[in-house]
This record gives sequence, C-alpha cells and structure tokens, in this order.
Amino acid sequence: MLQGCDASVLLDDSATIVSEKNSGPNKNSLRGFEVIDEIKTKLEEVCPQTVSCADILALAARGSTVLSGGPNWELPLGRRDSKTASLTTSNTNIPPPNSTLQNLETLFKRQGLDEVDLVALSGGHTIGMARCVTFKQRLYNQNGNNQPDQTLDKGYYYNLKSVCPQSGGDNNISPLDFASPAKFDNTYFKLILWGKGLLTSDEVLFTGSAGTTMQLVKRYAEDESLFFDQFAKSMVKMGNISPLTGFKGEVRKNCRRVD
Ligand code: HEM
Repeated sequence: MLQGCDASVLLDDSATIVSEKNSGPNKNSLRGFEVIDEIKTKLEEVCPQTVSCADILALAARGSTVLSGGPNWELPLGRRDSKTASLTTSNTNIPPPNSTLQNLETLFKRQGLDEVDLVALSGGHTIGMARCVTFKQRLYNQNGNNQPDQTLDKGYYYNLKSVCPQSGGDNNISPLDFASPAKFDNTYFKLILWGKGLLTSDEVLFTGSAGTTMQLVKRYAEDESLFFDQFAKSMVKMGNISPLTGFKGEVRKNCRRVD
C-alpha cells in the first residue's frame, strides 16, 4: 500500500529501474497489480495517456473502501507518474510489522503524517490478510526471550499458533480483522482493545503508550462514523504527499514500464 516518495511502486524491473516490488516490505506481499493493469488497458482504449497510474491507484483505493462498506471522499486528481523507483527509500521508509509505536510515529512523521493519521490509516487493516511470517515473532519470541507477546489475548494466541507454526508455514495467511475481514468497519479497533490485533504494529497503537494513540483507538472503537470521517481525511492527506504535477513525470501507457 505504501511507497517511496516521488517514486512508483508499479514499475517492474528493467534496464533503468530497480523495482520497489522487491523491497523487503513489498516482496511476496503487495498484490493486485493486474487489476491496475486491466483498468489502465481499458482507459487507454477510450482515452489515451490521460489518467495516470498514480490516479488509478488512488481511485482504486477509494473504490475498494466504498465497495467494502467504508466511507467515500472527494479525491483530488491530476497526479502524474514518476519515472523512477527507489528500492532504498522503500526499504527504509515503510514500517515493518514488528514496529514499536515510536518507530511508526517517526516514519509517518517523515511523510508529514501525525498520530491521528497513523491510527486512522491503520484502520485500513479492517480488511485483508497477512502472512504468518509477519506476525510469527509475536507468537514465539516477541522480546528475544522465547516467550509470546504478553499483550495477545490467550484464545486468539492459540488460534494464531494453529495457522502459524514455529517453523515453516510462513505463507499461511490470517485475517487482519478476523471478525469481519471483508467488511470495512470499526471492528479492527474493537479487536485491538481486546488484545486481538494481528500485527505488533496494530496492537501497539493501544499498548505502546498511555497517550494519544490509545485514546484514539478507544474513540474509533466506540464511534464508527468518527473513524470513517478521519480515515477519509487522512487518505486525502496521504494521497497528497508530494504528487508530481505540471510537466513533472509523465502519464504512462503501461503502468509497469516507463514510456
Ligand atoms: C502503520 C503501518 C503499517 C504497517 C506496519 C503495515 C503492515 C502490513 C502487513 C505486514 C501486512 C500483511 C502483508 C503480507 O502478509 O505480506 C499488511 C496488509 C495490509 N495493509 Fe498494512 N500496514 C501499515 C499501514 C497500512 C495502511 C496505512 C493501509 C491503508 C490505508 C494498509 C492497508 C493494508 C491492507 C488492505 C492489507 C491487506 C492486503 C491483502 O489482503 O493483500 N496498511 N499491512
């Protein structure tokens, strides 16, 4: 979902591009590129080189939110596509799933996103799946002492162990919000209150400090429309992080290749 600044995660490896698809956080993880390609192909047939791949991605994020029951928002368009990718930036700027709250806050701040954005946008984990390898550490060795994460609900912990063994099974998947994995709602925040957040980066929003993020998790768990309003605002904010406009970049014909 996330990408390096002024760079395109959609570009494949080529003579001039080292693709961000192969960065640590993205490899074997990002999926659905064929959906973007299909939309682009249809658009090019009727209206060549007009709608950028970056805008298609932003529209698809909004569309999938609405279709799964979440909020709608007015989406500023007119982004152009970057002609570059940055493996290094992708590796250093995308937070890993075992992040501490402090690490999450630092990396979001680097993009101009605050604690309110961090908590609301993490609510994107109300839909979708994660691989065992992204939460295994929590089950078997959270703090280097061969013990599970003590903030995990016990019943949930045993369920997760059955899909994610200590050795092997790295690609087994588990829902980020097991109560309603295909519905965009505020259940994600309720689960976190009960110690049933899947990733460390989810649970620390509640346990990582007694401050702002903990209060926000509580408020979004109580009030779904508050979460929806803020998610919409934060998605627009994230979509406005240094977009290319005017004569910068290009509008590609094929999202995977620089023209
Ligand atoms: C706060 C920092 C974040 C971290 C550490 C994080 C981490 C992850 C991880 C590890 C996965 C599973 C990937 C895999 O199994 O390969 C995942 C999936 C997902 N993330 Fe995040 N994420 C973050 C923020 C976001 C944001 C801001 C959004 C959207 C607004 C988002 C939306 C999703 C979705 C929809 C999935 C499921 C994808 C699927 O089912 O294929 N995440 N995230």
